[in-house]
Amino acid sequence: MKKWIVSIAVVALAGSSAAANAVNWWDLGNTKVGPEQTLQQFHEYFQQMYPKIPLQKYALGAYAFSPEMYSQYQEAIQFNPGDLTLSEGKKLWDTPFKNGKTYASCYPDGGKGVAAHYPMFDNKTKTVVTIGMSLNACRQANGEAPLKYGSQDLIALQTYLGSLSNGMPVDVQVKGPGAVKAFEEGKAYFFMKRGQLNFSCASCHVAYAGKYLRDQIISPVVGQSAHFPTYRAAWSAVNTLQKRIEGCNKQVGAEPEKLESVDYRNLEYFMSYLSNGIKINVPGYRP
Ligand code: HEC
Repeated sequence: MKKWIVSIAVVALAGSSAAANAVNWWDLGNTKVGPEQTLQQFHEYFQQMYPKIPLQKYALGAYAFSPEMYSQYQEAIQFNPGDLTLSEGKKLWDTPFKNGKTYASCYPDGGKGVAAHYPMFDNKTKTVVTIGMSLNACRQANGEAPLKYGSQDLIALQTYLGSLSNGMPVDVQVKGPGAVKAFEEGKAYFFMKRGQLNFSCASCHVAYAGKYLRDQIISPVVGQSAHFPTYRAAWSAVNTLQKRIEGCNKQVGAEPEKLESVDYRNLEYFMSYLSNGIKINVPGYRP
């Protein structure tokens, strides 16, 4: 933790003048402008920062900023270990419940293209529903017990259902006052400073996106949701976006939230909306 504090303080100092020339990234945190304008402002911000990087390339995260890392990535994905989780997920997906039905019966078109629209806001329960929650709702509707969030089986199912939208652009809807409120709460969480380091998600994934922090290039928030669940070499496993967020919370010395808590769901909703238009690629691969 000490190392982080020292190096971040240095980066923060070095970066402040550069940030002043560009768009005021902290203005992006204004919660009054609404979802459409927020999305537009984020895309404009990154386009100004990195005019040579087209929107689709944001799917690559940090890999978009280093040709050398990108070639390592291409080698790594010749055999993405995450594909093992994907086939585990397919097996579970195809295994009938005790009543003879399968997960496919819960989704339109057998689940194809469904993940592109998640998370979604449910007006009845007035809450953000994630893919993981929808899978558990499907189980319960068919008389099965819900799976634990973060469990291997649920991650595998989330991965498989995610992959049924591969190649399709993220298309998360934020419509109506309840949805907008959840979105704005996610946005506020993203911009709120926290932890011993007093860093917000935006400090790193907006202000320092595309730049080095210690020995790592930081990915922009735009595009992040499109490859989750993702395989990470550091995990030796596939895991979800919320698990990754938990890791970033801990890295700055902040208390992580519970998986699928209201805070994390609203945050995931906000982040996924920012990836609208970017093609889904699940499971991704990251170092
Ligand atoms: C001190 C800087 C810092 C802060 C603050 C921070 N992160 Fe990160 N985050 C990183 C680094 C470094 C990585 C690994 C490199 C990369 O892929 O961006 C990372 C990775 C990620 C990834 C995976 C990106 C990918 O392409 O797979 C996500 C998602 C993420 N962070 C979300 C968040 C969220 C949400 C917050 C706020 C709760 C947050 N981070 C706060 C430094 C930070």
